[in-house]
Amino acid sequence: MSADEWWRTAVVYEVYPRSFRDGDGDGVGDLEGVRQGLPYLSWLGVDAIWFTPWYRSPMVDGGYDVEDYRAIDPTFGTLEDAERLIAEAAQLGIRTIIDLVPNHVSSAHPWFQAALASEPGSDARRRFWFHPGRGPEGADPPTRWKNNFGGPSWSRTTLADGRPGEWYLHLFAPEQPDLDWRHPDVAREHEVLLRFWFDRGVAGVRIDSAAHIMKDPELPEDDGSHAPGRHPNLDRDEVHPVYRRWREIADEYDPPRVLVGEVWIPDRQRFARYLDPDELHTAFNFDLMTRPWDTASYRDSISLMLEAHAPTGAPCTWVLSNHDVTRPVTRFGREHSGFSFEEKAWNVPTDLALGRRRAEAAALLVGALPGSLYIYQGDELGLPEVEDLDLAEIQDPMYFRTGGANPGRDGCRVPLPWRGQEPPFGFSPDGVRTWLSQPAAWATLTVAAQVEREQSTLNLYRWMLRHRADLPADGFAWIDTGAADVLAFRRGDTVCVTNFGSADQDLPDGLYVYLASAPSRRGVIAANSTVWATPRR
Ligand code: GLC
Repeated sequence: MSADEWWRTAVVYEVYPRSFRDGDGDGVGDLEGVRQGLPYLSWLGVDAIWFTPWYRSPMVDGGYDVEDYRAIDPTFGTLEDAERLIAEAAQLGIRTIIDLVPNHVSSAHPWFQAALASEPGSDARRRFWFHPGRGPEGADPPTRWKNNFGGPSWSRTTLADGRPGEWYLHLFAPEQPDLDWRHPDVAREHEVLLRFWFDRGVAGVRIDSAAHIMKDPELPEDDGSHAPGRHPNLDRDEVHPVYRRWREIADEYDPPRVLVGEVWIPDRQRFARYLDPDELHTAFNFDLMTRPWDTASYRDSISLMLEAHAPTGAPCTWVLSNHDVTRPVTRFGREHSGFSFEEKAWNVPTDLALGRRRAEAAALLVGALPGSLYIYQGDELGLPEVEDLDLAEIQDPMYFRTGGANPGRDGCRVPLPWRGQEPPFGFSPDGVRTWLSQPAAWATLTVAAQVEREQSTLNLYRWMLRHRADLPADGFAWIDTGAADVLAFRRGDTVCVTNFGSADQDLPDGLYVYLASAPSRRGVIAANSTVWATPRR
């Protein structure tokens, strides 16, 4: 594997900039905070950072509503700060991946403002999906397409004289109008943006909502009857030429830049098409995240994903969570431990001790799989989902657009605890209120506390990443253990064994355990734990 192929095995740490660390004392994380945290990330052993959007934004959707793709949001810093951060990280051997959001812009983006100020049918409006309504007076939206945050996917505009006007499409919040990728300006602008950031040394882009960008201009309803590639607004065949063009641009650079797709589609064959050798380098594999803590289900998901990737030559990615998903420690402490947006609810009974144990076991399991690994900030600390935020603090549109039925995603976005006995735990200077409140109970979960504690989640991650670096790039084989609760596979000289059950199990004979998510007696693997072992010599 050449150095240019670093992404095949990389450990990528996801930074949600508002919540990593606050360098200027305003209670919100920023680039200076990330800069201060670089030695930590280097100590942890990550190969790259993926920043969720850092651009100028009204922050209606945590930055996924971009007003200016060439500017850093002032709460985070400046473009010079970003350039300095990219360079400083590179000096520590850490590459920078940024988030590009091609499906939609912020309603504050100059294009959308120009569209609103223009007549129906104008060129400015054709960059978006403006459309007359249906029914008498056009009072009904053009379609009933599902909205990713709940509520309708169209909002109606108001004319200068106060009368209702056209509707516009937004598959997410109304403040995130969808672009019409058939307009030549849209494609051209994104090519310029890719170069803008590649020229500044970013190693790659994570492509937000990558499968959504194309829509059926006939605006049919989604009645479930469409042929593959013909869904009205998801995974349409026309997305592929766009990403093939992006690949050409990425390949112009030395070293070539990397494209990572956020592709949430259930059909594995369709998913694999994004990974054709002339398209994206990798795409997030979310399947495992949706699976319950169960031997057969994990085995099934891992096998299916490895099989789906094999013909493409692209590596699998392994993802236990991200900034949209319930924290693993909480998820695994529940009866339904597979993630689903639809099932997110309040007051779900949770056993956090069990959840932590399983989350650590899951971390070691995915850490041993071939491919690249994503770690969402705070998972290495075993942070639980914060489910008792003051309702007045909640910011996520998912909460508001479901009328509060869905708690939203703020609970996994709470600022990280770094040190000390009480909030803000070194995230901000003492006495500063963080943008989302941290639980007082996080005193035992701070970075400083966990560095000191040998058996901490943080030390487990750190050792895991050290040993992971010694695993071969490829090669994977299941090992039949004969025990229903025990999953085992081989990676070079290492055997990874997970006990999904609630009782201790015998470890296959002749193994020497060198890394374990929970202590076990010799020859035994403890309940809900994973070990890495080598054949005893
Ligand atoms: C992606 C992001 C999510 C965001 C959405 C709309 O799914 O991960 O946070 O809300 O796209 O941009």
